[in-house]
Amino acid sequence: MEFQKIGFIGCGNMGSALATTIQKNDRSIYLSNRTPAKAEALASKIGAQVQSNMEIATDCDLIFLGIKPQMMGDLLQEISSTLNARSTPAVLVTMAAGLTMQTIQMLAQGNAPIIRIMPNTPVAIGKGMILYCTQNVSQKATDEFCSLLSGAGRLDELPESLIDAGSAISGCGPAFVYLFLEALADGGVACGLPRAKAQAYAAQTLIGSAELVLQGEQHPGTLKDAVCSPAGTTIQGVRELERNGFRSAAMEAVIAAYDKTCALAKKE
Ligand SMILES: NC(=O)c1ccc[n+]([C@@H]2O[C@H](COP(=O)([O-])OP(=O)(O)OC[C@H]3O[C@@H](n4cnc5c(N)ncnc54)[C@H](OP(=O)(O)O)[C@@H]3O)[C@@H](O)[C@H]2O)c1
Repeated sequence: MEFQKIGFIGCGNMGSALATTIQKNDRSIYLSNRTPAKAEALASKIGAQVQSNMEIATDCDLIFLGIKPQMMGDLLQEISSTLNARSTPAVLVTMAAGLTMQTIQMLAQGNAPIIRIMPNTPVAIGKGMILYCTQNVSQKATDEFCSLLSGAGRLDELPESLIDAGSAISGCGPAFVYLFLEALADGGVACGLPRAKAQAYAAQTLIGSAELVLQGEQHPGTLKDAVCSPAGTTIQGVRELERNGFRSAAMEAVIAAYDKTCALAKKE
C-alpha cells in the first residue's frame, strides 16, 4: 500500500467532498485549512485529524492541494522545503484549474510526483467525473489512487494537453446543466405544473437520458429520433430549440469556458 496517510490542505467545497469520499477507504486522513474551524468541523464529521500545512507536508504520503489556483504559489512556497527534505517524496494532487503539472513542480521547487485531477461538484454524491493525468507517478500508485477515488464517480485518464478541454465539459458543465434543468422546469410551471413536480420531472429526465447514453451503444441523435414521432409533439419542441440556437449555445458555452481557462493559464 503506497498511501497510508492522506492529507488535505484546503477543506473548501472540493477538498471536503474528496476527503469525505476517501475516508470510506481504511486510511488515516489529515486535514488543514486556513480557517481552522472548517477543518475541525470536517474532521469531526468524517473521523479525521486536524494538522498544520507543515505537518501534512512532513508526514502524508498523498497530499491533496484543495486551494484556489491563485493561492498555490504562496502555499507551495510555505511547504516546499519540507516536501523536498523528505526521504520518500509525497505525491501531490492538484485540482487547480489552468495550472499545469510543470507549473506545480516549478512552484514546489522540486521534482515531486504529481497527479493533476479535474473533478466536478457531483463527486459529493459519488456521481462525479474526474479527469486525471500524472507525472513521475508509478502505475501501481496511480492504480491505488484511482481505487481510493472510485467512490467519487467515474475517473478517466487524459493527456494533460486535453485536461482543460475536458474540464470545460465536466468541470463547468454542472452549471450549464442546471440552467437547462431550471429552464425545463420553468416551461412546466408555465404550463401549470407545481414547481416541485416540474423540477423533479426535469431532473429525473436528465438522469435517465444521460444513463441511456452511458449504458447503451446508441448515438444521442438516434435516441432523440426515437422520441420524435412523425407529426408529433416532441419534434415541435425540437424545432423551437433549433430555431433558438440551442445546440450552438451549448457548444459556445463549452468553447468560452475553455478559452477563459487558456487565457488564465497564459497570465500565470
Ligand atoms: N468547485 C468546483 O466545482 C471545482 C471543480 C474543479 C476544480 N476545482 C478546484 O478545486 C480547488 C478548490 O476549489 P473550491 O471550490 O473547493 O474552493 P474553496 O471552497 O474556496 O476552498 C478553498 C479552501 O482552501 C483554503 N485555503 C486557502 N489558502 C490556504 C492555505 N494557504 N492553507 C490551507 N488552506 C487554505 C480556504 O480556507 P478558508 O476557509 O480560510 O477560505 C478554503 O477552505 C480550486 O483549485 C479549484 O480550481 C473546483
